[in-house]
Amino acid sequence: MRQFNVVVLGAGGVGKSALTVRFVRDVFVENYDPTIEEQYHRPLTVDGELSSLEVLDTAGAEQFTSLNELSTALQSGRGFVLVFSLTQEASLKEVESLRKQIFRIKGSENVPIVVVGTKSDLVSEREVPATTIESLASRWNLPFYETSAKRNWHINEVFEDLLRQMRVR
Ligand code: GTP
Ligand code: MG
Repeated sequence: MRQFNVVVLGAGGVGKSALTVRFVRDVFVENYDPTIEEQYHRPLTVDGELSSLEVLDTAGAEQFTSLNELSTALQSGRGFVLVFSLTQEASLKEVESLRKQIFRIKGSENVPIVVVGTKSDLVSEREVPATTIESLASRWNLPFYETSAKRNWHINEVFEDLLRQMRVR
């Protein structure tokens, strides 16, 4: 069975752990407990082929105090989930900067990436309009997903999309 390393990145508190734990264990983590670093593992069948995903859930990007620390995390990944919160427009900035750092570290723009806007269930707190997402998706030429770990909306699609990208690159 082929194994792929995935790194989940984004600003603090945007829902990286909730997304990861929903995918791996199918439960919603209600309490906020800031992550240091956590490694998960899940088998996933896509297009009739079983693969193994090693998912690294990282600390909020602002917690990476040295560039070296971030580089190590980025080097370990074959594919990346870049996470922002739909309820926090500022968290998109972190995605923009992480995307650039991934391209720099990998020395290529041909890297498997999925961008995820979380907390889509918090409709009245939403700050990022669909139009912003559409224009970024076409500018960056990356797939975007709007998810809710709470409601289990579109979580699996994120990892299925990434796995398809990782298999062919
Ligand atoms: P750090 O590890 O500190 O970087 O945070 P994180 O990005 O891992 O965020 P975490 O997953 O811990 O979620 C932060 C808070 O947001 C928690 O209280 C979660 O329950 C909540 N949360 C995460 N995802 C969702 C969601 O889809 N819907 C709702 N309503 N709350 C969410
Ligand atoms: Mg976390």
